[in-house]
Amino acid sequence: MRVLVTGGAGYIGSHAVRDLINSGHSVTVLDNLSKGHREAVDPRASFIVGNLSNQDLLIRTLHSHQIEAVIHFAGLIDVRESVHEPYKYYYTNLSLTLNLLYAMMKAGVKKIIYSSSAAVYGNPDINPIAEREHPEPITPYGRSKLMAETVIEDFGRAYGLSYIMLRYFNVAGASTDSILGEDHHPESHLIPRILHAANEGGVVEIFGTDYQTPDGTCIRDFIHVLDVARAHVLALNHLRPGIQEIYNIGSERGFSVKEVIAACEKATGKKISTIELKRRAGDPAILIANTQKIRKELKWMPLYPSIETIVQHSWHWHSTHPNGLEEPDDSAQIHH
Ligand code: UFG
Repeated sequence: MRVLVTGGAGYIGSHAVRDLINSGHSVTVLDNLSKGHREAVDPRASFIVGNLSNQDLLIRTLHSHQIEAVIHFAGLIDVRESVHEPYKYYYTNLSLTLNLLYAMMKAGVKKIIYSSSAAVYGNPDINPIAEREHPEPITPYGRSKLMAETVIEDFGRAYGLSYIMLRYFNVAGASTDSILGEDHHPESHLIPRILHAANEGGVVEIFGTDYQTPDGTCIRDFIHVLDVARAHVLALNHLRPGIQEIYNIGSERGFSVKEVIAACEKATGKKISTIELKRRAGDPAILIANTQKIRKELKWMPLYPSIETIVQHSWHWHSTHPNGLEEPDDSAQIHH
């Protein structure tokens, strides 16, 4: 299929683009390189540097590349930042998604795969949590993701948009050949922050040790980025008129912040210094996925479910890319 991938220069997007092309799809990446990296874009993809606010560019691209489906990764992902700067999150994650959907309707493109998040569940009473449970996000990030989901559902009802929305839990790991990996600026995620500390001898901050969990630190469900990428390929192959679904993507197993630090110490062979701080704004205590629906309906299952493998792959990438990927490229020709 001919697919437009927004955010294809980003962490999850770049892994998915590679898998899509390897699976025979033809990919056009649209990314403004505000967070993504030019060198993460698969050289076999067409690459447009541009903004989702540019309605003309979107419609032109959808037409000229004869796009049949859109995979929408582009967005902001820092939960704590969203608490302090909600405007950025509602603008980027909600308004720009609306803009993209409008362009799709104008261009007659009626299939989308949307990158949603476990953050839509908020602080759930039930874990592992299934898609049928009522989402109650507790941060602007989670609310922006849920609002975008709602808009997509309404476009489904009104305009016959078919969609698969994938609610990612905590994505980590890197490609097995260590070409692609996780490089956010600033980095907010637990595993890369621990591995940076392992590389550079820094101290890992543990945000909160008074949660209702066995060791007092938050518990998360980590899923390998390659398994997340695969879910997009399966979703794309499944997407046809009338399909309107939401799926969780996770490993169904939870690890506490302290357990993840221990796994990183094992993978790196280094003792990691930590400091215990107060809770970070917007963090739920426990988030673990129930993924029975995607396993049953799309025949998806994680190939790399173990936290040890996830951390090993991340460590291999971090230790071979101590400076990460290149900074955003100012010489890029940007279509505003
Ligand atoms: N944490 C620390 N120290 C750090 C970084 C994180 O203790 O230096 C803790 C956090 O407080 C949290 C846990 O590690 O308890 C995981 O934090 P991350 O920032 O790695 O991930 P989040 O769970 O906050 O968020 C991630 C994605 C979101 C997604 C969410 C779903 O960034 O996009 O997972 O669970 F919505």
